[in-house]
Amino acid sequence: MSSRVQAGSLRRRDAGQNVTVAGWVRKQRDFGELIFIDLRDRSGLLQLVLDQARSSPELMQMARDIRSEFVLRVTGLVVEREAERRNPELPSGEIELLVQQMEILSRSDTPPFVVDEDTSASEETRLEYRYLDLRRPNLTRNMILRDAVCRQVRNVLQKSGFLEIETPILTASTPEGARDYLVPSRVHPGEFYALPQSPQLFKQLLMVSGLERYYQIARCFRDEDIRSDRQPEFTQIDIEASFVDEEFLFDLIEKMFAAVFPEAGIHPSTPFPRLTWKEAMDRFGTDRPDLRYAMEIADATELASKMSFPPFAEAAGNDEVVRGIVVPRGSGLSRKRLDALTEEAKSLGAGGLVWVKLGTEPSSSIRKFLEAADYQRLREHFSAGSDDLLLMIVGSWEKASSILGDLRIRIAGDEGMIPEHQWKFVWIVDFPLFEFNAEDSRWYARHHPFTSPRPEHEESIESDPGSALARAYDIVLNGIELGGGSIRIHRPELQRKMFRALGIEDAEAEEKFGFLMEAFRYGAPPHGGIALGLDRIVMLMAGASSIRDVIAFPKTARGQDLMAGAPSPVAAKHLRELSISLKKKK
Ligand code: AMO
Repeated sequence: MSSRVQAGSLRRRDAGQNVTVAGWVRKQRDFGELIFIDLRDRSGLLQLVLDQARSSPELMQMARDIRSEFVLRVTGLVVEREAERRNPELPSGEIELLVQQMEILSRSDTPPFVVDEDTSASEETRLEYRYLDLRRPNLTRNMILRDAVCRQVRNVLQKSGFLEIETPILTASTPEGARDYLVPSRVHPGEFYALPQSPQLFKQLLMVSGLERYYQIARCFRDEDIRSDRQPEFTQIDIEASFVDEEFLFDLIEKMFAAVFPEAGIHPSTPFPRLTWKEAMDRFGTDRPDLRYAMEIADATELASKMSFPPFAEAAGNDEVVRGIVVPRGSGLSRKRLDALTEEAKSLGAGGLVWVKLGTEPSSSIRKFLEAADYQRLREHFSAGSDDLLLMIVGSWEKASSILGDLRIRIAGDEGMIPEHQWKFVWIVDFPLFEFNAEDSRWYARHHPFTSPRPEHEESIESDPGSALARAYDIVLNGIELGGGSIRIHRPELQRKMFRALGIEDAEAEEKFGFLMEAFRYGAPPHGGIALGLDRIVMLMAGASSIRDVIAFPKTARGQDLMAGAPSPVAAKHLRELSISLKKKK
């Protein structure tokens, strides 16, 4: 048997060669004297041809019986296709394989959907038969790309002296703030392991251990609502290093992305720009701004205070601001669209949405409060053109900004304002250390409680938590958060102070994170790190719309694995062994 070559890799230069290929039948077409078979392997497609004049009757008969998804091994001669049979869409489209020997290695039932790049099968069906779905060339390509990304990541990290170290999957609760998945212990009845939401504590302990530079392509588990960029089980490129600062990590990640993204023909220009959290919120209303389009938010509190619309006039007195965005050529938006945007703004918590069309016959949702000169003032203030639309919101700075930020994203998407093939990376820095939760009147760590405050705010984290800034950073690409990290606290007294600021009592801190606190007593080096969402990186590189398309066996939006049938009930015996009794369903 001659050694196998990849079917989709054959080209015109291979004409005249005898080769063996193996793969799956995409389609068989029988024209009587000629039979064509499209053969697929992970490298692509190759056309096989059997010709009555040159192939034996047995071979012709075998080819006639062949159906889609049969597995074949074929030996033949690579020949150039006749001019009218060339397919410029296909990389191997200039050649075909004249079959000399053929063996059916496996037969297939009629598959539940046609295994092709485009499919009309529902996502449920595709996930139920994921092994067939993965045969589709686009998904196969995504898996190959994912592998290439991991390889580049490992390459860059190994060259920079990082050690790949595994951390436990059966562990105790970790501090990322989502719900844990729990695993009952048989040996310790009534006790549970938690699956890690991230290797955060372990990677910090590895720094205390003196391993200096750690990385792991780590599986993480979070019981949170599933979205197109969120799965309950996902993968992080997790990194931690000792004796480093933010600049070291920025440089490392930029180097990594400069190696990774070319795998998809994308060449990021480094260094990436940086925005402080405050500036990102102020200009884009979000801490993950999409910089591919402008429509920046601007303040108009002072100008609006001179207008007779009461919420405008009273804003400053109520500690509120008036902020707006200009939608380029938005004056054509229909009343229906404007009503829908107003409803959306209200559902996000706005009192209302003021719109102003700035054309020669201006109009506005607050027309009766506006004088002719007001239109001119607004036009000048916002540098708006006559076919532009102005949208304004009154509220607290953070609320008005974030609602306008959401509208900005919605409008850019709906109006086709997002340019394709642009890759806008940005670091977001100087995050607030805490955020206040009005529901339980408590301060929470915005990142996690091990994030170091900026040195100048160390003193005041308890007395003035609202002003404290963190040594934390996120990396954002085209409006999607790819990763985040921080320089950590490494001194036990500062860590205790941090817990106090978060209202975490010493006893609670001791119970949850005591081992880390204890470890810090034995000489912790200054350290910091970052974790990148591998699934999100590959999704953006592949141009996929969901991380499900770049994960081999993902969960559905309701957290199920339809193929393996998980989650599923378990036998009573199994539950008894685990000392678990279930409440009867009502
Ligand atoms: P964080 O919680 O920001 O940080 O997570 C880091 C990155 O992981 C990805 N990510 C997810 N991807 C898919 N599905 C999910 N459910 C999901 N949740 C998070 C995102 C995110 O930016 N331990 C810290 C990192 C550190 O401080 O070093 C952490 O986990 O891309």
